[in-house]
Amino acid sequence: MASLLVCPPDYFTVAYEINPWMHLQKKVRQGKAAIQWKALEEIYRKLRVTLKVVRPVKGLPDMVFTANAGLVKGKIFIPSRFRHKERQGEEKYFIQWFKRNGYTVKLLPEGSVFEGAGDALFLDDTLFAGYHFRSDIHSHREVAKILPKVPVLSLELVDRRFYHLDTCFCPLGDGAAFYYPGAFDSYARKVLKENVKDLIEVAENEAIRFACNAVVVGKQVVMNSGCPKITRDLAKRGYTVHPSDTSEFMKAGGSAKCLTIRL
Ligand code: ARG
Repeated sequence: MASLLVCPPDYFTVAYEINPWMHLQKKVRQGKAAIQWKALEEIYRKLRVTLKVVRPVKGLPDMVFTANAGLVKGKIFIPSRFRHKERQGEEKYFIQWFKRNGYTVKLLPEGSVFEGAGDALFLDDTLFAGYHFRSDIHSHREVAKILPKVPVLSLELVDRRFYHLDTCFCPLGDGAAFYYPGAFDSYARKVLKENVKDLIEVAENEAIRFACNAVVVGKQVVMNSGCPKITRDLAKRGYTVHPSDTSEFMKAGGSAKCLTIRL
């Protein structure tokens, strides 16, 4: 049974700007964010996904984006080392949660810049890792040292709107994934084409609705609403999309997938 770690949006807001989606003038409507959050919870309940909860911390508004807690592989947890000081305060709370829940915590060397499952996604046994805007490519080598059996493929991101890999690439499993090609440099696109058997393209108008920032549980896909084309392409392959409006979270540059980390 799938289980996801989430952090409720009690203190969620846009208090600073560290990606091009964030604008201090575009205020988060807390009540609406809470309703959108409940709707996601309801979908996971129906899909029988277990939600584990890390307690939100006042003054850490982006802690809702648990994808950036770190990278989980079995019972190993590699905590993020955030690029921006605005998010570095989250590190110790995530480490605490994973320690308390029986994970072995393996730290990356000081000075590494790595933003966890926001930038590193498993497709079957291979780790696809994004770099440039938020994670440094050097961190991939350090991750590979901690996980010596895991092949790591580094992918350069080139479009600021898609600053984390999970905003433009979504593994489905069994050699399949969907992605927005414009977010990658030409070599990264080549790496993706050579290493993903069924690589499905997402159109720009749906990519900017965070279509790729989706949570895949078996054949069920939880995605921001308003992405009909990729919904059809996934349906042809036997996947059912569960649309849910995440507009308040998009004001901070995240959608369904960023709000979770797979345990
Ligand atoms: N405001 C957050 C940040 O810029 C959003 C993080 C979204 N997370 C993700 N995994 N894409 O860090």
